[in-house]
Amino acid sequence: MRVKLLLMAVLVAATAMAQSHREAFLNEGWQFSRDQVNWQGVTVPHDWAIGGPFDKKWDLQVVAIKENGEDVATEKSGRSGALPWIGKGYYKTTFAVPQDYSRAQLVFDGVMADPHVYVNGRLAGHWAYGYNAFIVDVTPYAHLDGTPNNLEVHVENLEESNRWYPGAGIYRPVKLVMTREKDAALDTWGMYVRTLSIEGEKATVQLEHQLDAATVIDNDFELEFSLIDARGVKVLSHKSRPDGLGHFTARLDVYAPSLWSPERPYLYNVIATLRHKGIEVDRQSHKVGIRTISFSREGGFQLNGERRSIKGVCLHHDLGPLGAAINKTALIRQIEMMKAMGADAIRTSHNMPSTWQMEVCDSLGMMVMAESFDGWREPKVRNGYGRYWDQWWQQDIRNLVLNHRNHPSIIMWSVGNEIPEQWKPEGVQRYKDLIALCHQYDPSRMVTCGMDQPDGTIWCGFAQVADVPGYNYRVHKYDEMIERLPQGFILGSETASTVSSRGHYCFPDTVATNKAWPDGQCSSYDVEYCWWSNLPDDDWKMQDDRDWTVGEFVWTGYDYLGEPTPYDEYWPSRSSYFGICDLAGLPKDRYYLYRSHWNKTEHTIHLLPHWTWPGREGKVTPVYCYTDYPSAELFVNGKSQGRITKNDTTRLDRYRLRWRDVVYRPGELKVVVYDAQGRKAGQQIVRTAGKPKRLLLKPERTTIKADGNDLAYVTVSLVDKNGTLCPDAANRLQFSVTGAGSYKAACNGDATSLEPFTQPQMSLFHGQLVVLCQASKKPGVMTLTVKDPTTGMKSSVNITVK
Ligand code: GAL
Repeated sequence: MRVKLLLMAVLVAATAMAQSHREAFLNEGWQFSRDQVNWQGVTVPHDWAIGGPFDKKWDLQVVAIKENGEDVATEKSGRSGALPWIGKGYYKTTFAVPQDYSRAQLVFDGVMADPHVYVNGRLAGHWAYGYNAFIVDVTPYAHLDGTPNNLEVHVENLEESNRWYPGAGIYRPVKLVMTREKDAALDTWGMYVRTLSIEGEKATVQLEHQLDAATVIDNDFELEFSLIDARGVKVLSHKSRPDGLGHFTARLDVYAPSLWSPERPYLYNVIATLRHKGIEVDRQSHKVGIRTISFSREGGFQLNGERRSIKGVCLHHDLGPLGAAINKTALIRQIEMMKAMGADAIRTSHNMPSTWQMEVCDSLGMMVMAESFDGWREPKVRNGYGRYWDQWWQQDIRNLVLNHRNHPSIIMWSVGNEIPEQWKPEGVQRYKDLIALCHQYDPSRMVTCGMDQPDGTIWCGFAQVADVPGYNYRVHKYDEMIERLPQGFILGSETASTVSSRGHYCFPDTVATNKAWPDGQCSSYDVEYCWWSNLPDDDWKMQDDRDWTVGEFVWTGYDYLGEPTPYDEYWPSRSSYFGICDLAGLPKDRYYLYRSHWNKTEHTIHLLPHWTWPGREGKVTPVYCYTDYPSAELFVNGKSQGRITKNDTTRLDRYRLRWRDVVYRPGELKVVVYDAQGRKAGQQIVRTAGKPKRLLLKPERTTIKADGNDLAYVTVSLVDKNGTLCPDAANRLQFSVTGAGSYKAACNGDATSLEPFTQPQMSLFHGQLVVLCQASKKPGVMTLTVKDPTTGMKSSVNITVK
């Protein structure tokens, strides 16, 4: 190697040297097949199953869901989405490594599932768990001379391997990483940057790195760390030599640092430049944040030394009509919507997040509980992670932590969810081992695991082992548990599991558990939940009255594919009802309930239900107002229904305003809200809709990027002549896209719909749906036209693509 480096030193002055490190996404030009006979061109990220068709035959199960308290096996449909994700799939493409490079790695961010990677016909790598990122060093298998290499990825999904829709195929990006030297490079996941302390105007930051295992370590290596601020100005730099194991460490003081927080997500860039005898041989960079996190009995949860209560939501990894195939625009949309509600954290239930999602959380300011497993050795589902546990758990934790530990958004690791062995001695040992492994790779973060057996976990010592004791539900046990927990604080690692369907109201508005209605929907009065769970109000009461709580993660921010509780045995139903937003990303009423409590910078005034009830004239039709204001007066057609104030006398009146005796008369429903001083502070009016008149198209953004990936989300509503939503409209619409883009998918948020997302037609659900249009690579204008062939209504909207 030394001879080669010397030679290079001579050449360097004469010729422009290739960059020492190059990365390229391998996302285009793939071929995909289910049988290795019929191939189709696809781009990655790709989910082969999302186009359907929906059918209960795909994932029909006869099982007892033990976690739901069932003992007897019954037929379950739609439990994992009723989409064709089970079975084998094959991908192939080619890639070339320019002859300037002598080491090549493929970084897979996630492949569902059990991917075997072949390069030029030879098995180059394999990973079992579909949710984790992994690196395949293809140097020994690839031509490194600019000629094409054949890459194949074979995957297989087994039935009953997940409790929700996993997606299928190469559903996250693939990156080719090349370095110039084969035996002088940085470890791809070797960088580790953390804030040790912030005191006054000084932050102490520790930066570490590691030479790649193939590197011949000597003292002529030097690593330069540079810290660059958001304007591109170099704040600091530091040079160090490796220790005998090829490890670099630098401890730097940053004066007057800009700190990272959800409110101000300031990012620095760290550039690590590796030189050998003064010649650059590798270079990596990573966005990082300066911030501290702590959990303690005295201080609760603190970010940068300030106490805050975590306002979090759990998110499954699917993106509704896009399935598991990730898309940056879709990820940004999810996070922005949750932030606007007032949320400051997400939990990546129950698996490893994608790198893009973590980048979005870093840059938009969203804290993350990054999870890994839904089960350890003892299975919840027949073909779950238990099959892999013995061989893989350490490698899976290693990849999770090494891949993601530099993201400032991640505030803790979660190593599991409702683990079956949580009340057994072997479970305690596994938990200890997992925590120790996380700390080995990342001493800066605490570790948790969602527990749902309060007594069992205390009895066997599982709860006491946790850095952060987190309970899923069981709020009624918090007071008892806090006495028994040495940590002195409790996280609601999973809360609420309240169910509802957007725009769908059931009468009467009775609080009920596991309520099933004949139409497969749940009431949007937000009074229905599971027998093991509770209502949002119960969580808030506990958090507001007990200063030893550190916050919560609501189940869930968005509806997801699969787990259609309380309709696990009902067909058709193939997606969840738990979401604060529906599967299309449209807010349900519950969004405004959370917003009224969580968003401290903007006021909320939200009335429900809608006021178009032909046939209900003269019938009692309760009205609720979700608002941060303490009191309000309601009027029906100008007639007062009384002024009420939030109070603690019942379970539901502390955070909601409810008029439960209102009699429906068509016309106008008006609420006037009052602040704590009794001053009128605002109002909202809801009107009875007239006849359906037109299709209203509302794009969330009117300009998108001409990169072939960006998406325009357009909400389609059927409205009357005044623009009032016709809340029962179910018209079947057709979509066409012309110009600089194409139709991608549509979703109406109806969990019982069997209309495929990828077909250019769909029925409105409670008057609305969302159409996704994808940008082309050529700039121009894209036009979406939506047509109702039955009534002849037609509307178009233009989106600029540039
Ligand atoms: C929890 C579980 C979640 C989901 C939820 C539904 O117990 O952790 O994955 O199943 O119940 O209420």
